[in-house]
Amino acid sequence: MALTFRLNGEEVCIPDADPSATLLDWLREERGLTGTKEGCNEGDCGACTVMVTDGRGSRALNACILFLPQLNGKSVRTVEGAAGPDGTLHPVQQAMVDHHGSQCGFCTPGFIMSMVTAHANGATDFDDQLAGNLCRCTGYAPIIRAAEAAKDAPVPDWITRDRPVEPGAQPLMPQSADELADLYQQNPEATLIAGATDVGLWVTKQLRRLPQMIFLDRCADLKDIEVTDSAVRIGAMADLNRLRMAVEPLHPSFAGMLRRFASQQVRAAATVGGNIANGSPIGDTPPALIALDATLHLRHGARRRELPLEAFFLDYGKQDRQPGEFVEAVSFPRQPDTLRVYKLSKRFDQDISAVLGAFNVTVVNGTVTAARIAFGGMAGIPKRAAHVEAALTGQSWTRAAITAACAAFERDFTPMDDMRASAEYRMGTAKNLLLRYFDELNGTPVSVLEVTS
Ligand SMILES: Cc1cc2nc3c(=O)[nH]c(=O)nc-3n(C[C@H](O)[C@H](O)[C@H](O)COP(=O)(O)OP(=O)(O)OC[C@H]3O[C@@H](n4cnc5c(N)ncnc54)[C@H](O)[C@@H]3O)c2cc1C
Ligand code: FES
Ligand code: FES
Repeated sequence: MALTFRLNGEEVCIPDADPSATLLDWLREERGLTGTKEGCNEGDCGACTVMVTDGRGSRALNACILFLPQLNGKSVRTVEGAAGPDGTLHPVQQAMVDHHGSQCGFCTPGFIMSMVTAHANGATDFDDQLAGNLCRCTGYAPIIRAAEAAKDAPVPDWITRDRPVEPGAQPLMPQSADELADLYQQNPEATLIAGATDVGLWVTKQLRRLPQMIFLDRCADLKDIEVTDSAVRIGAMADLNRLRMAVEPLHPSFAGMLRRFASQQVRAAATVGGNIANGSPIGDTPPALIALDATLHLRHGARRRELPLEAFFLDYGKQDRQPGEFVEAVSFPRQPDTLRVYKLSKRFDQDISAVLGAFNVTVVNGTVTAARIAFGGMAGIPKRAAHVEAALTGQSWTRAAITAACAAFERDFTPMDDMRASAEYRMGTAKNLLLRYFDELNGTPVSVLEVTS
């Protein structure tokens, strides 16, 4: 397929790109731009970070799990383009020199490009901005000091000049949900590519061939997030960073969990639609959305249907989705904020959940009138704790009632043992999370980030 994008300021046309080629391989093998490193080749280490700019701004992305067509019409900057054309270092590069931010140097290009992007965006929450970049020898303190030191320097003009290019029509890249609906109906065997943070690994790790791919990236109408007085509707192509910003004022606990969803680079690519459609039992957004009473909006050609999100997940690896049907949006009603979302994983940042519990209980005059509780990591699908919900409803909101309801978890779930957690840990921790929810709603500090001596 024919692609056009800007690379370090220069327009590039690839007349016959392999749609399943990654940007990282193309940069290193076709362009000789070996500054962008391959560490893990699965989105975990950030050594391959590049800056990608389009009409919505600049994002740091992992080149190892970005397919070339995802760049069509955009502007890409690699570490070779961080300095100015006359060799003047970017302020973050100079600061890394001044603050001794590099030792072996393998991670450094990735850090530089995350820092260049944060600097261009005026972002100063460096612990979050750099959580997707691993360094094994320098340690993070000098790197954070460098980022702090450069934050007030003006953005260099060679960076501000990055802008999208006119890509031209491309048959595998529909421009709207309507075009996608037609194309997918005619090609139901095709693999839909949203952010490619799952599908990228099918290619780089499982070495799968994808005979036909449809790229959703240019469907601008699928990226909308609409907040009205009655509901929140999230387009399937909204990325996780935008979801986090949208839910922050409404359900801060949900946003707090999303801060811990993968890393800045993965969140900037990963979409809500992909997180639901992949049907993973440990996807982080479905339990939170189910607890919010979310509705899934599916589309097949001109036909649309809606179903409660929990009904979409039928069994492990099996969802209620027909060939040629796609996720158009997910929505949930506006409601008072009693949602709390607890993600348990071995690392704070950039780790898959062992267990994720989402709790949304309504208490009126000391009595539970409604309860929606959903878990990831406790079954083969994201699943409601229906027996626990029933055990709570109608009861008084007391520690004794909560403790009694905990026994119902044994009827809802038979969790499994795996490398992330044992079945016993999962069951014990699910019960404890309900107690944590009770304590948190009653005003006890429960987060390790909030507890003070
Ligand atoms: C390093 C790393 C860390 C991660 N950490 C987390 C984490 O903390 N929590 C978590 O939940 N996940 C995590 N993931 C998994 C992944 O990022 C998410 O599942 C993500 O939301 C997938 O979205 P995507 O847009 O990248 O999907 P893609 O990879 O593009 O697609 C995933 C699947 O969904 C299908 N699909 C995509 N969009 C649609 C649509 N609109 N309609 C129908 N089908 C569609 C695709 O065909 C494919 O089968 C991580 C991944 C990586 C690489
Ligand atoms: S090589 Fe590790 S994130 Fe890309
Ligand atoms: S400087 Fe060696 S891994 Fe970071």
